[in-house]
Amino acid sequence: MLSDKSSGGLPVHIGFIMDGNGRWAVKRGLPRKLGHREGAQAFRKIARYCKKIGIKYVTFYAFSTENWKRPKEEVDELMRLFREYLDEVEDYARENTRLFFLGDKSAFDGDMARKMADMEEKSAGFDGMTLMLAMNYGGRDDIVHSVRKIAEMAANKEIRISDIDESLVSSLLYTGGIPDVDLLIRPSGEKRISNFLIWQSAYAEYYFTDTLWPDFSPKELDKALEDFASRKRRFGGV
Ligand code: FPP
Repeated sequence: MLSDKSSGGLPVHIGFIMDGNGRWAVKRGLPRKLGHREGAQAFRKIARYCKKIGIKYVTFYAFSTENWKRPKEEVDELMRLFREYLDEVEDYARENTRLFFLGDKSAFDGDMARKMADMEEKSAGFDGMTLMLAMNYGGRDDIVHSVRKIAEMAANKEIRISDIDESLVSSLLYTGGIPDVDLLIRPSGEKRISNFLIWQSAYAEYYFTDTLWPDFSPKELDKALEDFASRKRRFGGV
């Protein structure tokens, strides 16, 4: 779903790739897991700031389908951070924030997956801001997931092949019903998308900065927003 903003103004949907936690820690002679802990703090700060300035949708890339390959100690620490965050659900209820998880929850421990589903259900009616966490998420996996559902519908004769179009594929992604990404921010000096919201970012503006994620501040976000507002978006037109 394309957002209706053609240029300038505030993005409707911002995506963040929270990169550079490991390097932040190593630079300080600390274990990588402390970088993730600090990164989780930056996530809280930036999410709160987005809400304050009126961003309607934000997505944070918290754990990719490939991140399971990391050392067990690091994966365990990330799970610990996610669990701590899930325990804060009450705060978000107070803040009128809708929470949503993108990705296959079944890979997480049963109690954690249940908590995630429970949070989604409890916050479904909140309309202040939609906060999405991409966890066990991969852009290609997202598309496969949508295609599988379409194949199932076709096999059950609920749709004809000619009914398959972009809006059907879009509606069956994890982000079904959520506007496409307008602004995608990647800190830490890397300039790639790393399988994050690849369908949804087809017309996004990109913002790269050398700042490592734990140091990413509201001030830096203001800079990215200023840059975004100055760009002319044409969505393939002239
Ligand atoms: C990539 O940076 C970051 C991750 C794989 C994890 C991101 C997760 C968090 C910041 C925790 C979020 C917490 C909550 C509660 C949502 P990297 O560590 O690979 O960076 P590097 O390239 O410097 O090693």
